[in-house]
Amino acid sequence: MLGPVRAALYESNGLAGDVLRIAEVDRPEPGPGQVRVKIEVSGVNPTDWKSRSGATGRPVSGFQIPHHDGAGVIDAVGPGVEPGRVGQRVWTWLAAYGQPWGTAAEWCVIPGDQAVPIPDGVSAELAASLGVPAMTAHRCLFADGPLHGRSVLVAGGAGAVGHFAIELAKHAGARVAATVSGPVKADLAARSGADLVVNYKDADAADQLASFAPPDRIVEVALGANLALDLALSGPQTRIVTYASEATDPVLPVRAAMTANVSLRFVLLYGVPRAALVQAAADITQALADGALTELPVIRFRLDECAAAHDAVQAGAVGKVLVVP
Ligand SMILES: NC(=O)c1ccc[n+]([C@@H]2O[C@H](COP(=O)([O-])OP(=O)(O)OC[C@H]3O[C@@H](n4cnc5c(N)ncnc54)[C@H](OP(=O)(O)O)[C@@H]3O)[C@@H](O)[C@H]2O)c1
Repeated sequence: MLGPVRAALYESNGLAGDVLRIAEVDRPEPGPGQVRVKIEVSGVNPTDWKSRSGATGRPVSGFQIPHHDGAGVIDAVGPGVEPGRVGQRVWTWLAAYGQPWGTAAEWCVIPGDQAVPIPDGVSAELAASLGVPAMTAHRCLFADGPLHGRSVLVAGGAGAVGHFAIELAKHAGARVAATVSGPVKADLAARSGADLVVNYKDADAADQLASFAPPDRIVEVALGANLALDLALSGPQTRIVTYASEATDPVLPVRAAMTANVSLRFVLLYGVPRAALVQAAADITQALADGALTELPVIRFRLDECAAAHDAVQAGAVGKVLVVP
């Protein structure tokens, strides 16, 4: 008889310190098409605290173990999954979506195609950082076609999504500029491989980015705050792809958008077609194997510090917040 699983979980929405607790739950058995993963490292993203807080309006049914992203080893497979996958090191994506078994636990169960083999030599920390950020970055970059020889502007190039947007765009053969708010983040964006890094708070940011105008993609984290800058740089081939909302929705300057002939796209990972997600996971794994993806500085918490990990992400921690079960 296998023992229970130690997990961080919540049964209602609220503040991290109020609703997140450590508990033991029955060890899940993988169902048809599923694998069970012994979690080594769990990655925390803004969506995890937003879902827990109730901000996203997703109701909790029973209990919820948070976190989509993780790295670990498959220790059991359900019916229909190749038994040879037992023992495989994997990274996970969208583990906690539509089911209670997120990665903030010693074990989780997940559909087999959401547990992706990790290439040799890749750390668990990097593998556990990929799911939400790299998949989002991939969709923003490639939903409108390949980028070889194209140019990309990544707003917020030191953020988790921004970091992988820079690295995936460089891996795809694009020229990449990034914006940041100060020197520490400028250093991170430059280390990710950005060819040009500009402080978006500079009054002449558009002039500094002139050699990238018009970019083929703008991967945008703050459409309202950056709209004037984005439109100043945009042309008919520019697709501004927004993946985050701000406290207040922007007012669209229609004449300026028409003048630029710009196109807008919006991305929410939960609604991206499954085939595109599976392709993104394959492309990201290839980039990993090619050595094109790197870790952000890691901020590590124990499982019993999961509430503090959520608060750190909510407070805008610089780097990648990880929880070790
Ligand atoms: N749509 C989706 O599916 C999806 C997927 C992943 C994440 N998200 C959302 O995207 C946001 C970022 O996620 P993350 O994990 O990358 O967070 P993160 O690691 O905290 O990064 C956010 C970055 O955005 C920068 N930023 C803030 N305002 C900016 C501005 N006006 N111009 C340029 N950069 C700016 C921040 O730096 P400074 O404040 O110092 O500039 C920070 O580096 C969150 O709101 C998250 O919920 C959405």
